[in-house]
Amino acid sequence: MRLLVIGGTRFVGRHLVDAALARGDAVTLFNRGQSGPAPAGVESLVGDRRVDLSALAHGRWDAVVDTCGYLPREVAAMAAALRDRVGRYVFVSSVSVYASTATANTEGDPLATIDDPDADVVDGRTYGALKALCEAALIDAFDARVTVVRPGLIVGPHDPTQRFTYWPARLARAIDGAPVLAPGHPDAPVQVIDARDLAAFMLQLIDGDRHGIYNAVGPTLTMGQVLQACADAAGVLPDLRWTDMATLQARGLQPWSDLPLALPDDADHAGFMRADARRALAAGLHTRPLAQTVADTLAWWRSLPPAAQAFDKAGLSSERERAALAG
Ligand SMILES: NC(=O)c1ccc[n+]([C@@H]2O[C@H](COP(=O)([O-])OP(=O)(O)OC[C@H]3O[C@@H](n4cnc5c(N)ncnc54)[C@H](OP(=O)(O)O)[C@@H]3O)[C@@H](O)[C@H]2O)c1
Repeated sequence: MRLLVIGGTRFVGRHLVDAALARGDAVTLFNRGQSGPAPAGVESLVGDRRVDLSALAHGRWDAVVDTCGYLPREVAAMAAALRDRVGRYVFVSSVSVYASTATANTEGDPLATIDDPDADVVDGRTYGALKALCEAALIDAFDARVTVVRPGLIVGPHDPTQRFTYWPARLARAIDGAPVLAPGHPDAPVQVIDARDLAAFMLQLIDGDRHGIYNAVGPTLTMGQVLQACADAAGVLPDLRWTDMATLQARGLQPWSDLPLALPDDADHAGFMRADARRALAAGLHTRPLAQTVADTLAWWRSLPPAAQAFDKAGLSSERERAALAG
């Protein structure tokens, strides 16, 4: 297969490229060349999708996977540029497109809306609604040749967000019997997808010529299972100090960012980690065991140079964690 990847050098796209090359696909990348070198064996086209698609003026591909579309007008421009030269357009969207996270979402549930569809600031307030508009722009242009995957939290080696990685790394520096702040309740739901499983699923959807929308999520696990898997991978028996979210929030700690994977314990978030994966499972989604994701993420994190092992985007410093435990 001739595969075009928009992005391809950072996280999801990187795993997709690895998987496609491993099975012998002819892979072309389009990106700015800022996030890292293209791997050996791919054709590399350089350009910034925000300003110039001319590097994509020639060429034909069986499918394109767009890993970095955030603004509807940019996704529409990409679709217009490729419409007559690409068979299938696979778009990496997000479960954040849904209007509500109070209950478990299926693919047909209402989507988030935005007052200004031309907004070009992508943040926590606009991200989901803009992704939903990107999906709509693609369906306009490609109709049944569009496949949308809506991942939940994407995890695994090369994750730039540090969210999931915080936990294997935190437990790896735990000592038997020493306290570790554990946010919320051990039975709080956690739903992730390993980026490698997402990559394999997208290739499978292309191979099967499947169109439509798929929540790409793993099974709903619990926070207790995640921390236990991390402790097991590190070979430690820590003293997990489960502390309810309201108490932690009252101490100024932010769910999700300071306390990765932990959400406010309220009705508005009750469905966020429970997206319905039945459609994806029926299409062949396979998710690996949590223990494997944890072990591989820990091994990758340990392989990083010391400066890159620091958690500056997510998680708590030792000092803040100690202060929270003392409180
Ligand atoms: N992380 C999660 O938990 C999560 C959850 C749900 C959905 N998602 C979705 O998953 C997707 C993949 O995320 P990711 O972290 O792997 O990738 P990403 O950071 O969105 O994209 C990185 C790739 O896109 C390229 N790129 C970025 N801006 C570009 C531009 N203006 N023009 C051309 N290329 C550009 C980068 O290369 P250069 O920098 O060299 O250009 C790099 O190869 C995103 O669409 C995100 O919304 C993520």
